[in-house]
Amino acid sequence: MAQDITVIGTGYVGLVSAVGLSDFGNRVTGVDIDAEKIERLSRGEPVIYELGLEDYLQRNLESGRLTFSTDIRGSISRSDIVFIAVGTPESGDGSADMSFIHHAIEDISHGMNGFTVVVTKSTVPVGTNRWIAEELRKRAPEGKFAVVSNPEFLREGKAVQDFFHPDRLVIGYDTERPEGARARKLMEDVYRALYLIETPIVWCNLETAELIKYASNAFLATKITFINQMANLAEACGADIHAIAKTMGMDGRISPKFLHPGPGYGGSCFPKDTKAIVSTGEEFGVEMSVIREVIRANDAQKVRVAEKIENSLGELRGKTIAVLGLAFKAETDDIRESPAIRIVEHLLDGGAHVRTHDPEAMDNFKSLFGDRLSYHNDPFEAIEGSDCLVILTEWNEFRNLDLTKAKSLMAGNWIVDARNTLDREQAKELGFSYAGIGR
Ligand SMILES: NC(=O)c1ccc[n+]([C@@H]2O[C@H](COP(=O)([O-])OP(=O)(O)OC[C@H]3O[C@@H](n4cnc5c(N)ncnc54)[C@H](O)[C@@H]3O)[C@@H](O)[C@H]2O)c1
Repeated sequence: MAQDITVIGTGYVGLVSAVGLSDFGNRVTGVDIDAEKIERLSRGEPVIYELGLEDYLQRNLESGRLTFSTDIRGSISRSDIVFIAVGTPESGDGSADMSFIHHAIEDISHGMNGFTVVVTKSTVPVGTNRWIAEELRKRAPEGKFAVVSNPEFLREGKAVQDFFHPDRLVIGYDTERPEGARARKLMEDVYRALYLIETPIVWCNLETAELIKYASNAFLATKITFINQMANLAEACGADIHAIAKTMGMDGRISPKFLHPGPGYGGSCFPKDTKAIVSTGEEFGVEMSVIREVIRANDAQKVRVAEKIENSLGELRGKTIAVLGLAFKAETDDIRESPAIRIVEHLLDGGAHVRTHDPEAMDNFKSLFGDRLSYHNDPFEAIEGSDCLVILTEWNEFRNLDLTKAKSLMAGNWIVDARNTLDREQAKELGFSYAGIGR
């Protein structure tokens, strides 16, 4: 049966969820405190870049099942299920900043009307959903609500595909209480479309669901950091990290995914979630030493790439550097915690002129760096006159970059390819000095 749903927060997770849940046949209102965002979304303008999102957004708006509003409490009062998809950024001490969640709970407790299932999609530390239940209990009688933890695993750049074809759904609920069982039934309805395509559904308690999310992200961050460190060793001793990673990946216990060396992980999740789980460990008196070291080594990797550029050129002052790729990974416009931020900062501090190009992320980068560097819609325009060409994001279009043309436009002959995307043999044949990662 179709449900009436409010999704609080229309960022990467909330917007894709609102669009996806309405496509499943539910009646969905996406709400946000950002009035401009809501206005643009109501016009069918996706406020973020995600492949396929625009079509789904417009189709579901036209069907009438999907609407957007700033009337948060009004929408909650008309809903059976309220998804929370607000941000949980890093706070000053590394723990998750819960202020957006607190605001959302305030709105839910004032707005809810009749039996309401409150579903947390935001990534929240262990214990948050129990705390939410306690907060709601202050206003609503026992039995009038249920709290569910439904962490999101979508990858930016593939968010739409991941929403409709997830590897698994994780649904934590209060297994001890009757409202928990009632909530489980409603969640089965919400996700019926995924159940029909045999998506594995993990039903568990609230704490388990919360920790599954952090454990998954911390493990992936560890895998990336492991291969980066191995790449640094390969580079030092004359081995080829690509052959190493490929062969490691042939072992079914390891798998080839997330074994690509690069400038360190970034994005809106891994950096903050690794720090948050270390903080949760401290709270429970459990030392998260592996993850603590991952955070340190990942930071060092970004600096290492910056220094690689500096060492190639001898010195940065007065040099012109073309940076291709600003997003934290390909297929997204998201620059949150992007390695490019740290690396470009280092280049500017050293006195270099930085010319940049990214297919989607330049506006976001501009809002951070302003006119301290230049932005070019065409990669060759960015490359023109540069002493060094740097690749920081693995956009497909950089893989086949015309190196002959690049060479003819550049003033110098250095390439620092932090994603190992270019054909290094061809680069060398053309007279480039090429530095990749781990080869
Ligand atoms: N981005 C990802 O790839 C991803 C993947 C999985 C999980 N997550 C988790 O999902 C959560 C959301 O991440 P995101 O990247 O979508 O964040 P985001 O910053 O893109 O979006 C958050 C949205 O919430 C809105 N908002 C904040 N407070 C609000 C309030 N009180 N009421 C209504 N709207 C409010 C903001 O205006 C913003 O539009 C985070 O906990 C994150 O860790 C993110």
